[in-house]
Amino acid sequence: MHTRQSIPLLLREALDRAVRYVEGVEGRRVFPDNGATARLAELGGSLPEDSRDPIETIRQLDAIASPATVATTGPRYFGFVTGGMLPAALGAAWLTSAWDQNGILWLTSPAAVDVERIVLRWMSELFGLPAGCSGALVTCATMASFTGLAAARHAVLERAGWDVEAEGLFGAPPLDVVVSDEVHSTVLKGLAMLGLGKGRVIRVPTDSQGRMIAARIPRLSDRSILCLQAGNVNTGSFDPLRAASERAREAGAWVHIDGAFGLWAAASPARRVLLDGVELADSWATDGHKWLNVGYDCGVVLVRDGTPLRKAMSAQAAYLIETEERDSMNLAPDSSRRARSFEVWAALHSLGRRGLQEMVDRCCAHAEHFARELRKAGIEVPHEVVLNQVLVRFGDDKRTDRVIDAIQRDGILWAGRTEWQGKAYMRISVSNWSTTSKDVERSLESILRAHSLCEGG
Ligand SMILES: Cc1ncc(COP(=O)(O)O)c(C=O)c1O
Repeated sequence: MHTRQSIPLLLREALDRAVRYVEGVEGRRVFPDNGATARLAELGGSLPEDSRDPIETIRQLDAIASPATVATTGPRYFGFVTGGMLPAALGAAWLTSAWDQNGILWLTSPAAVDVERIVLRWMSELFGLPAGCSGALVTCATMASFTGLAAARHAVLERAGWDVEAEGLFGAPPLDVVVSDEVHSTVLKGLAMLGLGKGRVIRVPTDSQGRMIAARIPRLSDRSILCLQAGNVNTGSFDPLRAASERAREAGAWVHIDGAFGLWAAASPARRVLLDGVELADSWATDGHKWLNVGYDCGVVLVRDGTPLRKAMSAQAAYLIETEERDSMNLAPDSSRRARSFEVWAALHSLGRRGLQEMVDRCCAHAEHFARELRKAGIEVPHEVVLNQVLVRFGDDKRTDRVIDAIQRDGILWAGRTEWQGKAYMRISVSNWSTTSKDVERSLESILRAHSLCEGG
């Protein structure tokens, strides 16, 4: 049963099932019904005593887990900031699993590591970052910010004569971390994990769109880290990157940009202006699993200068033989890790610059379409729609919650709830490569139906 000879048969079974899933994903409920989620318990019980046929295992997994999946790869999932999976990325993911490469060192996988170097260069060129950036693929934007901020912590404390990796933060010279009132919670989590504290950051006020007000940035120094945002998770707005970074650079401060999805606006000449000044930062965080539409998990950290990153991340042991080549474990928090680079390469290679531009512009056009039609129907969209994010409010908080609930129960689309400037909103994030105008129209019908059903109630 568990033989190498059984693998082709097993892969064919998995392929048939995966194809059925992919072909059916457009037609299914976006969020599974209660019956499907209740059946997940059937995968539990005690750990089986005996081995069984792996094909049976795969059949059971698919039969029970697949109906309980959320159709995030389908075209009408607008929750959080969720990309689907481009065809080339899906194919590359299958190969990546078959190859099972460890991306830790060049010696464990020259292919994974060299391709990682290639995609990091492609992305930094695409984003308009300085030549010679270093970086790594990590699990998510949270870890990308953590990693960029670890390099920042190293550099800022080194300037103060302190070796933070050796000495820790006990007795270290103080440093300032400046963020906006709209900083993403995961940047604060990264700061907390680095011992820099969520609570002791200096917060800069934001304007009506959620952008940092550059004139309100406090005095910075070479002991400061300034965290900026490219793409607010609610409104899609961008901090004034040039004005804020120029102030930081004059003071010798480190600038980190969280562009989890917003950095991809660089692919669109029409939206590039939002990223004016992006190249002035020292570190950048983004995601592949959001707007690039590769599978989970894939975050990206880029840094202007690889030296502080390497000093913050390196680990040595006699058996971990380093080479002249790039050794990824010294540039990222992970040591052993999945070779994420193949999927990223396949996505970028298959789209090319033009395909990326079309995907970004298409998602933004869909977001504008949503906003236009909802406003026409008298529904509040409180912000300028500059990217792929749309906030929607159906009267007061209670009614907004009821309409969101009705939309989610209808199952045609899925959009989540958020709070913005103290009020409840529904968030629509258009991040999937396969969403069409028809999907937007079908989704609008469902939203307007739920809005009118809840009328007056
Ligand atoms: C601006 C921003 N930063 C960070 C994150 C966190 O991303 P991840 O879940 O990949 O860590 C998000 C997620 O939506 C985001 O929008």
